[in-house]
Amino acid sequence: MQQTALTLATETPNDWWEVEALYDLCFAPGRSALSSYRLREGVDPIAPLCLTARDAEGILAGAVRNWPVLVGGQQTVLLGPIAVHPTRQGEGVASLLMQRCLADARDLGWSRLMLVGDAPYYRRFGFEQVSGVIMPPPTNPDRVLGVALEAGAWQGVGGQVTAIGD
Ligand SMILES: CC(C)(COP(=O)(O)OP(=O)(O)OC[C@H]1O[C@@H](n2cnc3c(N)ncnc32)[C@H](O)[C@@H]1OP(=O)(O)O)[C@@H](O)C(=O)NCCC(=O)NCCS
Repeated sequence: MQQTALTLATETPNDWWEVEALYDLCFAPGRSALSSYRLREGVDPIAPLCLTARDAEGILAGAVRNWPVLVGGQQTVLLGPIAVHPTRQGEGVASLLMQRCLADARDLGWSRLMLVGDAPYYRRFGFEQVSGVIMPPPTNPDRVLGVALEAGAWQGVGGQVTAIGD
């Protein structure tokens, strides 16, 4: 892993379209048809948990955004999308973004995060499958993962994942 001269910063309005372009590049076409996007529509992201990683020339290497959602009525962070430019993958950029997200979420007082993704990757950050947390279909339940930032933060938390304000 290189992790050379990367600067993490909170996303600004000027970054928005560049981050969108990165997501378009990294995800399959039609990413906004994913069920997780239904939970984000019309809801502001958690601004301090939207981060960019730029190299020494200012080129965007990776980005992550986070949204608030409700799990059985309990406020929870929905992590993602997270993406790293294909030319920078495997250098630990996503690891840096993930670690900063988790630390900052804890500092902001959040106690649990969830995401929809590959357990073999996200396990290293403490995420594991959360049974009984039901994403809008179509979502493979094996890909619904959560991490507790405080002991027991997922205890008794389950049910439908819904958008804030629904
Ligand atoms: C997934 C992604 C964010 C990882 O970013 P990255 O900066 O390359 O990740 P890191 O450098 O921190 O970690 C790389 C390691 O994770 C592994 N890895 C990456 N994606 C993985 C996956 N889906 N499942 C299992 N392992 C994975 C790599 O093989 C590598 O392993 P190594 O450390 O043993 O060599 C990046 O590949 C990406 O943008 N992919 C396309 C968009 C995407 O799928 N986003 C996630 C949606 S859930």
